[in-house]
Amino acid sequence: MRATPPPKTYRVKSFGCQMNVYDGERMAELLADRGIAPAAEGEDADLVVLNTCHIREKAAEKVYSDIGRLRKADGSKPLIAVAGCVAQAEGEEIMARAPAVSMVVGPQAYHRLPEMLDKAVAGERATDTDMPPIAKFDALPARRRAPPSAFLTVQEGCDKFCTYCVVPYTRGAEISRPFADLIAEAERLVAGGAREITLLGQNVNAWTGEDDKGRAIGLDGLIRELARLPDLARIRYTTSHPMDVTDGLIAAHGEIDKLMPFLHLPVQSGSDPILKAMNRSHDADGYLRLLERFRAARPDIALSGDFIVGFPGESEADFEATLQLVDAVGYAQAFSFKYSPRPGTPAATMADQVAPEIMDERLQRLQAALNRDQIAFNQASLGKTCPVLVERKGKKPGQLLGKSPWLQSVWFDSDVSIGEIVEVELAEAGPNSMAGRVRASATT
Ligand code: SAH
Ligand code: SF4
Ligand code: F3S
Repeated sequence: MRATPPPKTYRVKSFGCQMNVYDGERMAELLADRGIAPAAEGEDADLVVLNTCHIREKAAEKVYSDIGRLRKADGSKPLIAVAGCVAQAEGEEIMARAPAVSMVVGPQAYHRLPEMLDKAVAGERATDTDMPPIAKFDALPARRRAPPSAFLTVQEGCDKFCTYCVVPYTRGAEISRPFADLIAEAERLVAGGAREITLLGQNVNAWTGEDDKGRAIGLDGLIRELARLPDLARIRYTTSHPMDVTDGLIAAHGEIDKLMPFLHLPVQSGSDPILKAMNRSHDADGYLRLLERFRAARPDIALSGDFIVGFPGESEADFEATLQLVDAVGYAQAFSFKYSPRPGTPAATMADQVAPEIMDERLQRLQAALNRDQIAFNQASLGKTCPVLVERKGKKPGQLLGKSPWLQSVWFDSDVSIGEIVEVELAEAGPNSMAGRVRASATT
């Protein structure tokens, strides 16, 4: 690698989950602190950070094709850093396979990006995929600005080792960030403009800590404390694991007004033998009973989940059990994926891998059922008036876009400001969004 002039502009492209989005924002803040400006839309960046995801096969392949395609208008390559879970899992391979990459930095090491950048400018390639718990957060600059709906990573890593999943390997063991740090970061986000905070973690409901009086608390205790911040209007959390659901978290949904009526609780399959082979530590019935308890605490709670079709050994009867579970729940929205064998995970070498055409067919049937339920959920909301947090401008002049308490995208015409919460009547239901009419300004 040759020495290059220090970059003046950067672009961070994040793929994958919301935790990656959070990490991408923090990397952008680190670069901005070094006097590097974000590249304007459509303009070249001197430094591109690809913040990658390794959860399914195509995600990693996309990184290599992105690296190949990155070029400035004059044909030269920008400085390229590969961050995120592909960096963690395949750091050395990236360095060998993609000579244009000068920095590879894992999800627990990106606070060292500025030092690595100095090396890259001097013409040295650098890899850092260490996993020191917590150190990263302490080394990051304080937050200054925040969108109306902001992310706050409270927990990282995973100890569950579902047999199909790379996350325990790319993100490491479960750790919880300390209570005081989270309250301080939340205060900063609110001072910077956030009205809603979504608490993030690969297993967010595994969060534990001690409050300011030294009492052991769980995620519900953290939510209770955050709800005291006067200018914070809404709290959400994602992603939860059925095994870490506590009585306190269920009760919180009935007791804390600021906690939004929405729960993303992945189940993956409705078949008990498949759940066992996945090492999910819950069966279909146990999952359904948990949801009933959430519904008892908060009857209007909207439910969301994740599904995998075509896990090794999945028979037609196993798959039908998944469809039955979907029918029993009535999800407001959900994500569904074809099983993708990940190197190094136990499921990748299991017998009875399912043929691609069977996976395609099952995914279509599952998605048809999930879409049907999503539309039904939206139609059942018609005529309701609810508070909508305005997040951004819509495509047409005068149009605004926000979220209902149930996480539906709602668009409507109004001249209120971004970040306001307005009472909107849900007037038309589409599959992925609702059209609304403003009733009155609720709070500002
Ligand atoms: N920690 C969360 C989410 C992890 S990844 C949880 O346990 O629910 C997000 C989703 O990707 C998972 O819920 C799962 O549905 C899907 N996923 C993970 N590994 C996969 C694989 N190998 N193939 C297909 N989908 C996968
Ligand atoms: Fe992956 Fe399972 Fe951990 Fe979720 S709980 S991150 S699916 S291993
Ligand atoms: Fe992807 Fe890593 Fe998130 S693999 S889903 S970016 S934890």
